[in-house]
Amino acid sequence: MTTQSEQPAMVTPPTTTAASDDGVTPVTGWQGSSDYFALREYRAYDPHAVVDVLRGRVAGVIFRGMVPQETCQELATRFWASTHRKRRGVEAPGYYLGTYHYHKPTLTYLHESEEVAAGLDAVLDGLPADPLTAFYGGLADVLQREGVTVRLAEHDGRQACRALLRSWHGQGEYALAPHDDRSQCTEPQQADFEIQRVAEREVAALNICLENGGGGRLAYWNIQPDDESKRRLGLHYTGSPYPLASLSGIEMKWVDVNAGDVYVFNGAHVHAVEPNTDPALRRTTLAGMLGFRDDTTVISWT
Ligand SMILES: [Fe+2]
Repeated sequence: MTTQSEQPAMVTPPTTTAASDDGVTPVTGWQGSSDYFALREYRAYDPHAVVDVLRGRVAGVIFRGMVPQETCQELATRFWASTHRKRRGVEAPGYYLGTYHYHKPTLTYLHESEEVAAGLDAVLDGLPADPLTAFYGGLADVLQREGVTVRLAEHDGRQACRALLRSWHGQGEYALAPHDDRSQCTEPQQADFEIQRVAEREVAALNICLENGGGGRLAYWNIQPDDESKRRLGLHYTGSPYPLASLSGIEMKWVDVNAGDVYVFNGAHVHAVEPNTDPALRRTTLAGMLGFRDDTTVISWT
């Protein structure tokens, strides 16, 4: 559950649950005030702004041009050249390097994290400006003053994957269908994994944009769906996909994203990715999840 006491004033959620024109019942849930529901823009990295997201004080923040273009290009080149890069899907395949916890037993995720670690290191290490070190290092420095440690999620001494590189090319209205990132953190197969403690607080999504040829905006809805809506749609443990009709009438923002931008947002809100205007152009990001597992620890995973 969201620690709503840490969040600013709420606006009233929709009270109607009547079916929309296409027979889909609208999603209900928590909605933030106009002060809260924003992706605040910064010209340079400010880890305090990330803490605002982690503490539920603002929906999201974006650091424009935080990563130098040469670093973005180098990372993207290494990603596409990597023999550890995997393909997902058939018709409009996506590619990724790293692993993700979605819908897997804890031990499977940890095993895959270990398997891919060397391949990931080869892509991420030895850069003139390492964006992950800049991001997490800066965050750790700021939180240390509050007595908070930042580390990788772990289980029985085994560590989660440090980041995920991915490039999706979904077809249809969205390249990545409307979904939330918190539901997957309640997966029963991961009941023993500490990331589930973050789901009781704010689950934040980190995205570092490496290339974005055209389109590829983030769509971000002002709603954290309630359990009843998730169960009704059958996506209680997956958070995906929310039918578009179920989101009609809910406030939504489009966020332009360019190579070098780093953005962090509350993943409990429904969000999606717009397809590229030109299918030949790529949208590639370096991504991860993070959040407070308890008052003194922030953990990250993928
Ligand atoms: Fe997501």
